[in-house]
Amino acid sequence: MPTMEKGDVLGHEPMGIVVEVGSAVTKLKKGDRVVVPFTIACGECFFCKKQLFSLCDRSNPNAELARKAMGHSPSGLFGFSHMLGGFPGGQAEYLRVPFADVGPLKLENDLPDEKVLFLSDIFPTGYMAAENCDIEAGDTVAVWGCGPVAQFAIQSAWLFGAGRVIAIDRVAERLEMARTYGKAETINFENEDVYERLQELTGGRGPDRCIDAVGCEAHSHGGVDAVLDKAKAAVMLTTDRAHVLREAIRCCRKGGQISVPGAYVGMPDKIPFGAFMNKGLTMKSGQTHMQRYMRPLLAKIESGEIDPSFVITHRVPLTQAPEAYKTFRDKEDGCIKVVLKP
Ligand SMILES: NC(=O)c1ccc[n+]([C@@H]2O[C@H](COP(=O)([O-])OP(=O)(O)OC[C@H]3O[C@@H](n4cnc5c(N)ncnc54)[C@H](O)[C@@H]3O)[C@@H](O)[C@H]2O)c1
Ligand SMILES: [Zn+2]
Repeated sequence: MPTMEKGDVLGHEPMGIVVEVGSAVTKLKKGDRVVVPFTIACGECFFCKKQLFSLCDRSNPNAELARKAMGHSPSGLFGFSHMLGGFPGGQAEYLRVPFADVGPLKLENDLPDEKVLFLSDIFPTGYMAAENCDIEAGDTVAVWGCGPVAQFAIQSAWLFGAGRVIAIDRVAERLEMARTYGKAETINFENEDVYERLQELTGGRGPDRCIDAVGCEAHSHGGVDAVLDKAKAAVMLTTDRAHVLREAIRCCRKGGQISVPGAYVGMPDKIPFGAFMNKGLTMKSGQTHMQRYMRPLLAKIESGEIDPSFVITHRVPLTQAPEAYKTFRDKEDGCIKVVLKP
């Protein structure tokens, strides 16, 4: 991730107990149990008033850097790049939370931590990913990736009325989770041509809605575009390996819609924009507007409609985080999602 520095504290998905409050905080007190969203928002600016919290105009102290790179600055984020604020993240014993009356969700139930923890990022992110492709009842939704974000995009696609969900990855246990918990049909991109298989499964029309839950670290099995991306990334000529975005544009049915929760950072090239335009596609994306979704999704957990803890495969003390990162990166030991306990 460009503009991250050695010594930065990572951590996008924290929860904890309030140990101290600043003088301007009115809604929280010492001892409250909270889930903290990864997007930092003021709650008062033009964008926050429109509930576009991840686009908050006032929470990124390094907005000028982001404006130079992107034209305008999104909100600050915990445990991410300095371009988005360089805020120390939640993989720590303590976390300083700016705009604490706007972000943290106070828990007034006795649900176990593991059921509510992912309200901090991946559950709302998967949910917004599904919402962002405007699913119509009965639609076929293709989801690239079977990582944690994709697992919640799959769950949410059903909540929005999908008739069929097809999930794509190459990691056996992730595909298995998509089948068992996600009730999805699956494609292993290492064994099958994704375009051919998706057309076959949809009578040549292509999936109605496509979700790129992979982002800029896509792998490919033999695609020329992916080989070029890899070579350019190795010599720092690109920050993005956009194979999935290209594939989704090619596979999507005419007039269909693509949602991109997967993170991109720079200027991915070879995007088939001619196909995008001529097929009349629509695309929506963004960092998740967390504060918009946390409460309604908590209600779904409370009512028993969903239990997000299904995605957890590993629980380790914070001191073992470096080893857990290696296990996660190398997809060893069936590792899908790690919970760190300080
Ligand atoms: N928009 C947001 O607010 C937001 C929030 C959280 C995460 N994200 C982003 O969402 C993305 C997914 O996050 P995650 O935690 O699930 O990541 P992850 O790395 O665990 O999962 C990515 C999955 O994609 C698979 N994959 C790689 N190449 C593929 C290909 N060509 N086709 C199909 N699958 C392929 C990998 O095998 C892996 O299982 C990341 O880019 C992350 O940064 C975005
Ligand atoms: Zn704001």
